[in-house]
Amino acid sequence: MRNLNQDNITQAVLARFADTPNPRLHEIVTSLVQHLHAFAREVKLTEAEWKQGIDYLTATGQMCDDTRQEFILLSDVLGLSMLTIAMNNDKPAGCTEATVFGPFYVEGAPEYAHGDDVANGAAGEPCDVSVTVRGLDGAPVAGAVVDVWQADAGGHYDVQHPELGHAENRGRLHTGPDGALHFRSVLAEAYPIPTDGPVGQLLDATRRHPWRPAHLHFMIQAPGYERLITHVFREGDQWLDSDAVFAVRESLVAPWTRQADGRWRLDFDFVLNPLAAAPARSAPQAAAQPA
Ligand code: BEZ
Ligand code: FE
Repeated sequence: MRNLNQDNITQAVLARFADTPNPRLHEIVTSLVQHLHAFAREVKLTEAEWKQGIDYLTATGQMCDDTRQEFILLSDVLGLSMLTIAMNNDKPAGCTEATVFGPFYVEGAPEYAHGDDVANGAAGEPCDVSVTVRGLDGAPVAGAVVDVWQADAGGHYDVQHPELGHAENRGRLHTGPDGALHFRSVLAEAYPIPTDGPVGQLLDATRRHPWRPAHLHFMIQAPGYERLITHVFREGDQWLDSDAVFAVRESLVAPWTRQADGRWRLDFDFVLNPLAAAPARSAPQAAAQPA
C-alpha cells in the first residue's frame, strides 16, 4: 500500500498486524496502535514533540540499571501501575488490599527470627512491629514467608546507599503457628521518589510533588493463598491524599503509636486471599518484579 495519509494510515497499520497468531498479542497491539494514533490526532502532535517524546523515553531507558528502574517509576507516577493493580486484585471483601511493589525490593534479603532488629544499623526512631497473617476464614496462616522493607529516617532505602555493603531495613521472616510475627525496626518516614532522572523532570515540569506518605512494605507468600504485595501507611501523614504514585488505600492506613518506653509500635493484621477464591487469571510470577 502506497501514498498513505492521515485518514487511512491507522487501518493500514492494523491490517499489517492482522495475522498475529497469538490472540492476546493481537488484541494488545491492535488497541495500542488505535490509542497511539488517536492520541497523536487528538493533541495534533508536532514532529518536534514526537522527537522530544522519543528522547524522553530514550533517557528513561538509559537511567535504568540493576538498582534503578526508571520505567517502573514512570508507570507509577502516570498511575498505570496502580491502575493495573486495581484491575487485577479484586479480592473478596475482608482480604487485605494490594498496592504498588515499588523499585526498592531486593531479592535475597537477610532472614530474621522473631524479635530481631531488621533495621540492622539504619538511622531512625526505634519501632516494634507485630503482625498476624490469616486466611479469609480467620484461621492463622503458619509458616507464611513475609518480606519487609522500608526507608530510613532520611527517607532512603539501603540500595540508595551503595557504599553500605549490607542490607538495612529489609528482611524475611516466617509466621509462627499462630500466624503472628514480630520484629524491631525504625519508624517509617515520608520520602520523595527519586527525582534525579526523567521522572523528576516530568514532575517538575508539571508542578507535581514527589512525596510518598510514610509506609512499610510487605510481601506475604504462603501455599494455598494469593501472594500479597502491599504497604501499611502511617496514619496522619501529610501526603496520604497526594501520594506521588497513587498507591494509598484507606484500609492500609494504620496508627504507629508511641509506647511508654518511647519506642514506636505498629500492629497490623493481614488477610490473605485463598487461591480457590481468586479470580481466574495467570498466576503471578514469584520472582518477577511487578509494578
Ligand atoms: C516505594 O514505595 O518504594 C516506591 C513506590 C513507587 C515508586 C517509588 C518508590
Ligand atoms: Fe517505599
